[in-house]
Amino acid sequence: MIGSPALPFKDADEFVPFVTNIGKPWIGLLIVILKVGLGRTLAILKKMKAGAKNTAISLATMRYYSAAPIQFGPYAVHYSLKPHAVNAPGAQPGQTPNYLAEDLSARLKREPVVYDFAVQFFVDETQTPIEDVSVEWKEDVAPFITLGRLTLSPQDPDSASGRKLYEFIEKLSFDIWHAPVEFKPLGNVMRARRVAYKVSAKERQALSEPDGSERFE
Ligand code: HEM
Repeated sequence: MIGSPALPFKDADEFVPFVTNIGKPWIGLLIVILKVGLGRTLAILKKMKAGAKNTAISLATMRYYSAAPIQFGPYAVHYSLKPHAVNAPGAQPGQTPNYLAEDLSARLKREPVVYDFAVQFFVDETQTPIEDVSVEWKEDVAPFITLGRLTLSPQDPDSASGRKLYEFIEKLSFDIWHAPVEFKPLGNVMRARRVAYKVSAKERQALSEPDGSERFE
């Protein structure tokens, strides 16, 4: 999941030219314009600029969104995690390069970190499209329904077992296609991710799925 309910890009044909050319300033922009068109390039840049302003203050107070749809039994849904914790009034992002990890670690040492898991259902192709992830599924059209709760139990990420767990997680692959068929990812970007994540995970020799037998004591 990501921190916004929609992406600046409609589909993989827009996303990939941006990602692959972003490091090459002027020539890169030219390539993007040729591939995506001037109007769409400007619209995407505007959305990226607006998104860049939303710096996260804490992973525990952030809302997370699938931004892209999955199958949900006979339905199609977007899903979201809504945090229980709220930012203190006037809270600002930390100043250290690793402030998000430091903040989460400090919180987990003293309390559980809790989110509600909610889904919103597909309504129609115009208001809640499957193939175009640049359209936000608005909550007044498709309200979120809370189905469960995710609780990260209090723990010490800096302890020996915490470090072991961290190293294990770093080697995992977080692939949306690690899912039973009832929760099959849907739409253009999800199909593109099916190919890209597999190659990336193989390249960095990621571990296969955890099976619950892992122990970190
Ligand atoms: C054309 C579309 C996309 C492509 C080609 C793409 C590609 C990738 C690749 C190659 C990785 C590294 C995966 C790994 O090594 O395990 C990655 C990571 C990630 N992507 Fe995408 N992505 C796409 C769309 C999206 C969308 C729509 C979202 C969210 C809504 C998303 C969220 C993420 C996240 C959160 C990670 C980090 C996962 C981690 O921590 O390992 N991506 N993406």
